[in-house]
Formats: sequence, structure tokens, C-alpha cells
Amino acid sequence: MPEIPAVSRRSMLGGTLATGAVVAGLGSAAGAAAATSAAPSAAGAEASAPGRRPGQKSMINVPFEEYRTVRVGVIGLGNRGSGMTTGWSVIPGCVVTAVCDIRADRAERTADGLVADGMPRPAEYGGSADAYAKMLRRDDIDLVYIATPWEFHYEQGKAALLSGKHVVVELPIATEVSELWDLVDTSERTRKNLMLSENCSYGRNELAMLKMAHEGLFGDVTNGHGGYLHDLRELLFSDTYYTDAWRRRWHTRSTASFYAMHGLAPIAAAMDINRGDRMTTLKATATAPKGLADYRERFIPKSHPSWRETYINGDLVSCAIETARGRTIRAEHDVSSPRPYSRINSLAGSRGIFEDYAGTSTTGGRIYVEPDHGGHSWRDFDAYRKEFDHWLWKKLGDEAENGGHGGMDYILQWRTVQLMRAGLVPDIDVYDSASWCAPVPLSVMSLEKEGRPVAVPDFTRGSWVNLRSGLDSRSTDMPPVS
Ligand SMILES: NC(=O)c1ccc[n+]([C@@H]2O[C@H](COP(=O)([O-])OP(=O)(O)OC[C@H]3O[C@@H](n4cnc5c(N)ncnc54)[C@H](O)[C@@H]3O)[C@@H](O)[C@H]2O)c1
Repeated sequence: MPEIPAVSRRSMLGGTLATGAVVAGLGSAAGAAAATSAAPSAAGAEASAPGRRPGQKSMINVPFEEYRTVRVGVIGLGNRGSGMTTGWSVIPGCVVTAVCDIRADRAERTADGLVADGMPRPAEYGGSADAYAKMLRRDDIDLVYIATPWEFHYEQGKAALLSGKHVVVELPIATEVSELWDLVDTSERTRKNLMLSENCSYGRNELAMLKMAHEGLFGDVTNGHGGYLHDLRELLFSDTYYTDAWRRRWHTRSTASFYAMHGLAPIAAAMDINRGDRMTTLKATATAPKGLADYRERFIPKSHPSWRETYINGDLVSCAIETARGRTIRAEHDVSSPRPYSRINSLAGSRGIFEDYAGTSTTGGRIYVEPDHGGHSWRDFDAYRKEFDHWLWKKLGDEAENGGHGGMDYILQWRTVQLMRAGLVPDIDVYDSASWCAPVPLSVMSLEKEGRPVAVPDFTRGSWVNLRSGLDSRSTDMPPVS
């Protein structure tokens, strides 16, 4: 059963979203036209949306089939994939039935690890770049989880959909606009869901921020700021961390916002992107590429293979995004400068503002909302997070905190399995996934045009005007495991 959209205080506040999407009852072709005329810059993107093939239909609000047990096949067993494999295996009603890595020893090591933990031994695939295709022929896999380097995500995600399986893909799902469209179309044709593995959207602060936005605490939300600011220099130059230094090599290929999704997605969710609003244009700027070369000069021996590389990606790549409802989002990416970690997570509107990674409180967040606050000084977020704690964290917080990334991984995996077992609509669908990843290629396009705006495709093909639930879900139980 599809979940019922959350009723929010937005309509009582008379926000633009309510005015446009709910009160006027938009969602029809007329609604789409009205919304488009309010956002002329989006017209080009909508016009360029490829047509659907006969019989191809939207995946919006399409629930999962009800699975008694969710059987997972994993592709890519490095840092991320091996940890997440353990994660899938401990979720109630979930079993890992197959694992694959181009390096066969990693498949064997992962299978051994599951057995040591008391889990059934999964089938192992490896030894060649297309071993995953053999794994996809199995009929005991319902969900494929992909944690390979970025260059393989599109091809492997598409193949998984074509094999009749649902897919969770690590960030980004693809790096070209044409590939993003192809994944949307392939999901619509195969009737299978493809979801970005956007664990940070399940973060405790992020979900509380979302609830507060939807309950009107910030008034009309006007702007947000998020990103991925993570000093990865040591790991990028490590000979053992990223296999074959795949992540560093991306910095030799293009100037792009490779990985801003962890900060962009929570802002997009709070703004109901694809659920009442949509991103229309993107402008990018990039600093000079200094950080990696400087680090190499100081710490890496001249005999290291990295000395044959030239880094071209800007250290800080910033995207300024406009939405159809007149909001703005700043999305940033920097993994090559010295700085403490931050995803920024800032959301602001006519009645207040939240900022993460800024306060001294235990939650790390700070807040200022009217009428509670005045005097131009920030307040701790703690009491607000307690009040607006998302049901997933209230229910799972204690067990989640033993998992990766402060519990976000556990929440994402538990919720995905629950959605599939209970036959619910995914919180993150293929349209969200494509939209959140679109800044990767769009930042390249804008930078090639000296920062001029480029149109953001409307992957929903006009359905974004309909307000619907997503990460702001209602509390439901995990079906019992028999
Ligand atoms: N969501 C998160 O919080 C998060 C965190 C870390 C990494 N990631 C993502 O996870 C992915 C993997 O990152 P990582 O740090 O684990 O990298 P990694 O280098 O440790 O692992 C990648 C693995 O993929 C394997 N591989 C490469 N080509 C393959 C193929 N054709 N078929 C099967 N296996 C293949 C490699 O052998 C390696 O074991 C990346 O997309 C990264 O961005 C996400």
C-alpha cells in the first residue's frame, strides 16, 4: 500500500508550495503548464525530455511487490561494499545470497566473513569485469546493491534493472545526463526501482530538519546550502584504500562537482524537489586545482605513480541551483583541501534557519526560529531534534548507532528492506536519484560555458508538481520474520 502523504503545516502557513500544488489542485497537464510558465528557464529542459516509449509509465508512487524475504546480491566488495554486505545481512528478513567483485579473493573473503558471523554462505562471483552479469542471471536475488567505482555504476545499475531486480546504487548512479535519462527510462520499462544509496538523507539531524521544514518551523523555505566537504587527500594518495586509486584518477579527468549529493539530497528533500518543486537551472564555479598537487609535493615520494598525473578538478566546485518555486540551493564539493568534515546542511526560510556542523551542542547543529528566538543569537539544536526526531530514529536509534556512519547506513538498509517486505513506495525513487546526481554532468556543462546557467532536466516529465511523501514517511513496522 502506498503511504499517505504527510499533512503539513505548510498549507496553513500559506506557503508557495501549498498555493501552487495543493490548493490549486495541480498535478494535471494544466498544472504542469502553469508551473512551467512560472519558471521560463525550465522550459528548455522540459522540451528536451525524451518521450516515453509506448506502454512505458511513470514509477512515481509505485510500491514494491511484497517480499517475504529480501535476497540481496552485492557488486563491489571494497571498503564500502564489504561493510554494507555485513549491514544487509543483519537486517531482519534480509539475506545476502550472492557477492561479486572483479577481484575473486574479495568475494571469497566476504563470503567467509558472512559464514563466520553465522550467516548462510552466499554464491561467489569474480575474476572478470563482467562476472557481475553472470550473478545477475540468478533467480534468488531481489535487490542488487552496487558499490563499485563511479565509472561502473550506470552500466551495472542498468544491467541489474534489465535482469528484473531492484537496485540500490552508491553515489552517483551515473555521470552523464543521457545515462541518467536511460536509468529513468529503464526503471519505467522494467517496473523495477533504482535508488541512490543516499545514506545521509537518513541522518538524524537531516531528518529532523526535514520534519521541521514540513511542519512549517522555517516558514516558507527559501534557500538551502549543502555539500560534501571532506579532506580525503591522505586516502586519495593511499596505495591500499581506493582500489587502483580510482577516486584520485577522477580528478585528472574533468572539472566537476563529483559528489555533492550527501549535502544536496537532504536540502532537496526538505524543499520537496520532485514532490512539489523542482530544480530548474544550475550555475557552477570552480576554484583552481591546488590541493592535491600541493599535498603530493609535500608528502608523496617522487617515485610514486601519482607524479605522472595532472589534477584538473577545482578544489571547491560550487553549484548555484534555482527551483521552479523561486528557491535557491548552494551545493558544494571539496575533497582536496585541509578542513574539518562538513555536509553543511543549512536550511532557511521566512521564519528561521538551521545550520549543521556549526554549533557546540551534542547534535552539532544550531538554530534560530521565530517566534521562539530573538536577539540575533543562535540556539542549540538539541531540544528541537528531540521534538522533531524522525520515527525511524526513535524506533531504531539504539541499534543503528552500532552501524556505519553514525547509524545512517543501518537506517537506510533497514528502511529499504522494510519498504520491500511491506510492499511500500520507496522513500528515494529513480527521479530523486537522477535529480540529485544531475549536478555531476551539469556542473561540467556550466563550467564549459564559463559558469552560465544550464537547464536541469525534469526527470519526472511534469509530475513534480504533485505533493507526495518521501523521506518524511509515516511510522510503520517491519513485517514479522517467520
Ligand atoms: N554512501 C556512502 O557513505 C559511501 C561511503 C564510501 C563509499 N561510497 C561509494 O561506494 C563506492 C565504492 O567505494 P569504495 O571506497 O568501497 O571503493 P573501493 O575501491 O574500496 O571498492 C571498489 C570495489 O569495486 C571492485 N570492482 C571494480 N570494478 C568492478 C567490476 N567491474 N565488477 C565488480 N567489482 C568491481 C573493486 O575490486 C573494489 O573491491 C563508490 O561509489 C563510493 O563513492 C559511498
